[in-house]
Amino acid sequence: MAGITIAALSTVYPNGVRAVDSLDLEVADGELFALLGPSGCGKTTLLRTIAGLEGASEGVVSIGSRDVTRLQPGERRVAMVFQDYALFPHMTVAENIAYPLRVRGVAKSVQQETAVRTAEGLSLGALLDRRPGQLSGGQQQRAALARAVAASAEVLLLDEPLSNLDARLRLEARTFLKKLQRELELTTVFVTHDQAEALALADRIAVMDAGRIRQLGTPREVFQRPADTFVANFIGSTPMNLVPRDDVVLGVRPEYLAPAAEGLFTGSVSIVENLGVTSLVTLDCGEDQIGYIVPEDSEPSIGAVVTVGAPAARVLRYDKETGLLVR
Ligand SMILES: Nc1ncnc2c1ncn2[C@@H]1O[C@H](COP(=O)(O)OP(=O)(O)O)[C@@H](O)[C@H]1O
Ligand SMILES: [Mg+2]
Repeated sequence: MAGITIAALSTVYPNGVRAVDSLDLEVADGELFALLGPSGCGKTTLLRTIAGLEGASEGVVSIGSRDVTRLQPGERRVAMVFQDYALFPHMTVAENIAYPLRVRGVAKSVQQETAVRTAEGLSLGALLDRRPGQLSGGQQQRAALARAVAASAEVLLLDEPLSNLDARLRLEARTFLKKLQRELELTTVFVTHDQAEALALADRIAVMDAGRIRQLGTPREVFQRPADTFVANFIGSTPMNLVPRDDVVLGVRPEYLAPAAEGLFTGSVSIVENLGVTSLVTLDCGEDQIGYIVPEDSEPSIGAVVTVGAPAARVLRYDKETGLLVR
């Protein structure tokens, strides 16, 4: 078992694209870590550079106390599950799971034992003789995970592991992945563009943009105190209210706003959206549209004039020029 240390790492493609840009990052031993950001921000490239599938242009990647920057992927003791699983279609589930062991020349009996044990841990015990084409998306995903786990790597790298599943299965697989990772205590880095997934799963999150890390913190930290307006916009199921005032931009999450006698914003209700046990209300405040969340059955009527406020600690101020949180 081992953590990952990344120091001043850049990965530049031959066409000049600087997909990872002077990045520093430490992932702790046994941590479940999320790389989160919009499409094209460099998540996959960073993961592939850790795995050794892309060469680092500058900087150092260490796993535990080993500098692996110049090592071949096979020498790094990492297992990577790709976005499209990449199971071998002509092999059974058992053969797929045992493949990394076969390549290493591990005895056949050990290969079989490991495949059975890992498959059972992932509820695939009854499917060992099937081929990938005979599995559902969720089962394929678990088979790919089983293969990575059976490889007995020190580090597990997952690229959008849940993105090919439909919404309900994704929730189940998410819970399952978290439980599995706890049991294995395997240092795991997973890539996602889904902020809800990152918040739900990760011990810590790095929010990426253009090859760099905008903020690194626990889910609670990035949700409650986004370091800049980019992160504020990216994190949260409903967008944060960002309202320019004099020399700052005020940032308040809709979840923290509620009707108040003396509030921050006053406006007339223009839209009410049902979110299930809550509703998102939009207030028309002249130039600004302010969203706030109300419990079910507490929706105001359209046109009503409402004043909303938030606890002082939940009202953030961002620099108008730089977009950075003002401490
Ligand atoms: N093989 C490649 N050659 C050149 N540019 C690439 C290659 N792969 C990715 N890129 C570019 O690098 C940037 C980061 O891509 P990627 O790491 O795939 O982002 P993400 O996984 O966050 O969507 C993008 O601008 C993308 O177009
Ligand atoms: Mg990607």
